[in-house]
Amino acid sequence: MSYLELRNLQKRYTKDGPLIVDNMNLSIEKGEFIVFLGPSGCGKTTTIRMISGLEDVSGGDIIVDGESILRKKPRDRGVSMIFQSYAIWPHMTAFDNIAYPLKLQKIGKDEIKKRVESAAVAAGIEMLLKRYPSQMSGGQRQRVAVARAIVVKPKIFLMDEPLSNLDAKLRVSMRSELKRIHLMENSTTIFVTHDQAEAMSLADRIVIMYRGKIEQIGAPMEIYRDSATHFAASFIGTPPANFFETRIEKTGEGYRAVNEHIRYRIPASMNAALAPREGKKAILGIRPEFIDLSPRRESGPGRLCDAVIDLVEPQGSHSILIAHIGGTEIKISAPYSTDVTAYTQVSLAVKDEQAMFFDPDTGVRIR
Ligand SMILES: Nc1ncnc2c1ncn2[C@@H]1O[C@H](COP(=O)(O)OP(=O)(O)OP(=O)(O)O)[C@@H](O)[C@H]1O
Ligand SMILES: [Mg+2]
Repeated sequence: MSYLELRNLQKRYTKDGPLIVDNMNLSIEKGEFIVFLGPSGCGKTTTIRMISGLEDVSGGDIIVDGESILRKKPRDRGVSMIFQSYAIWPHMTAFDNIAYPLKLQKIGKDEIKKRVESAAVAAGIEMLLKRYPSQMSGGQRQRVAVARAIVVKPKIFLMDEPLSNLDAKLRVSMRSELKRIHLMENSTTIFVTHDQAEAMSLADRIVIMYRGKIEQIGAPMEIYRDSATHFAASFIGTPPANFFETRIEKTGEGYRAVNEHIRYRIPASMNAALAPREGKKAILGIRPEFIDLSPRRESGPGRLCDAVIDLVEPQGSHSILIAHIGGTEIKISAPYSTDVTAYTQVSLAVKDEQAMFFDPDTGVRIR
């Protein structure tokens, strides 16, 4: 059985108000690192506040270790939470900040000292225990908050955008630290972010949320390679996937996805899935690394259209090329050695049959 389960979880802030969390079902295994990923306002914070007990639920249940926790007070739930603004006490040293939750539990002085020191080692701040928050950097303060959260040895660790106040470089290094701490403590963790790179690098499984609903649950690469919905495909990946509104047409040699600018011959392996869409619209999605370009107009398999490159952005390991197809801007990821330059005409093709198709009304993946 799973360790933490959300069953038909619902939240309305007012009686007749909208469902902010709309029937969420999720099973989390012990020790898993789960990331809630979704745009602002989709209900991430609301969901973890319901788990921590800071917010009432409007429907459904939350089960930990086989038992509903809804009737338990926040402090009896075995949950530790880290907030975006790390909320450590300015008038207490790092040591006292970390010791605070243990003092509330009336734990003995020697035991407190031992546990604070070991949490500080885990968070990499053992040299800073005597300092006050004003004498520390933002990243160090965030580590104090992390140490304070792990010191209670929570059953469940909830982190609400804990890195968003840090500058870009520190974010990346703290993110590796959090992963290391997780491997050491092995606590069941839910980490909230709207940064897809953070989600990809930390998660055992990502839960993609949109408008209070779960769009997809899966391992990072699974969601990337096998996006279940238009939204999931658009939210994961930098640069994001390119999307085109097309219509599915039948021709003498199979099906094509067409619009004013594109005529893409659909690979035979996708015929069965796309045949029912004949004459209807479908959204074609292609990730930037799956677009091939060649200087000549070619008619081979995978051909998409012609385009003019507007910009070349070298990234070091690769280059991002920006082009327009009709009014739609597209991004192409090319090897760093590419000799394509701005204002040149190229021919675009889809590599290795890596096209995705989505239903424009429901957003659900067709193929
Ligand atoms: N106390 C409240 N009363 C009424 N509505 C609320 C309350 N708290 C949040 N909301 C609304 O619920 C929705 C979800 O908010 P929530 O804070 O869970 O989003 P989020 O996914 O955490 O977003 P962000 O990434 O911006 O933090 C939003 O539309 C928000 O305005
Ligand atoms: Mg939030």
